[in-house]
Amino acid sequence: MGQDNAGRQWRGMKGAMKPVLGIETSCDETATAVVDGDGRILAEAVLSQLSEHAPFGGVVPEIAARSHLRYLSGQVRRTMATAGIGYQDLAGVAASAGPGLIGGLIVGCQFGKGVAIANRLPFVAVNHLEAHALTARLPGLVEGGAPFPYLLFLLSGGHSQCVAVTEVGRHIRLGGTVDDAVGEAFDKVAKLLGLDWPGGPAVEKLAEEGDPSRYPFPRPMMRRPGCDLSLSGLKTAVSQAVMRIGGAAQTRQHYADIAAGFQQAVVDVLTDRAGHAMEMMRDRFPKSGLLVVAGGVASNAQVRRALSEAARSRGFVMVAPPVRLCSDNAVMVAWAGLERLRRGISDDMSVAAQPRWPLEALAS
Ligand code: KG4
Ligand code: ZN
Repeated sequence: MGQDNAGRQWRGMKGAMKPVLGIETSCDETATAVVDGDGRILAEAVLSQLSEHAPFGGVVPEIAARSHLRYLSGQVRRTMATAGIGYQDLAGVAASAGPGLIGGLIVGCQFGKGVAIANRLPFVAVNHLEAHALTARLPGLVEGGAPFPYLLFLLSGGHSQCVAVTEVGRHIRLGGTVDDAVGEAFDKVAKLLGLDWPGGPAVEKLAEEGDPSRYPFPRPMMRRPGCDLSLSGLKTAVSQAVMRIGGAAQTRQHYADIAAGFQQAVVDVLTDRAGHAMEMMRDRFPKSGLLVVAGGVASNAQVRRALSEAARSRGFVMVAPPVRLCSDNAVMVAWAGLERLRRGISDDMSVAAQPRWPLEALAS
């Protein structure tokens, strides 16, 4: 992690904030965006690889990497054209460098470095989790952007954790899953119910038709101290319920009831864990009062509603990005790049993409 003259480059001739190009290729979305220093989104594009992976029931890393390689350069060109600016108008280039699928990360990172080198711009290797964490600081979500410190409940397909975000690059992990991530649990349950991948939205939709009380699934870790969570027992209980019904007796209503019961159990667990996390946050930062929910699962309406209510009852305000900014996107990557460039931080061109890169390992 190197400091350079990005802090000076960051402002344009008249002190105006220059935009940053963001690139996101950590999983199965090829996403690009240009965001200016005031958080205005000048252009954004997300190309989903859903149809390429769907026949395999999940993301195939090799297919993902090849697809990013094929489409990224054209998409960057189009995004810049939509933004109506040239590369010389940028303050820098930011790309997700981890955690995630290494093939795609290498494609996005090396492409970003190429654009940066060719145009003599600083490059920022963005931690994908920090990008989710900083989305709440985009002006507009909370007026003027979420002030530090705040509590982040990150609920994505690969990660579920409660984190105190105290500054750019500074995080205190309060707790998290000890087994499956919440999105992963939704995806696995969707598979058990024969639903299409990705499972989260499919389970949510089917649950609308179900009775959540018909299958009283376990609520692992409820009321335990701390804010760790565990979902593998719940997933096993769902699997056993599906098996118990047996082939011929299965009806759509059974599955809808299971989906609703599972979702309700997850919501109860998340609400309980978030409640403990808010208390832990208050102990450390007595003036804190903001709960930020991010990651793909934060687009689930019932999860949003329940966490919002849990926050309100503890004197916190919950904010969640709009649904399109909850799941993977490049607006958050460009914004995380802006936050770093603004502080005079950029990366050396020797920086490498890394499949594992926990938030706690970040340096500001
Ligand atoms: O943050 P994200 O887009 O990608 C990762 O960085 O993992 O999260 C994707 C995860 C998937 O597991 C997906 O099933 C889940 O978020 N998800 C949902 C919903 N929409 C997406 N889970 C529950 N309800 C939803 N509406
Ligand atoms: Zn993500």
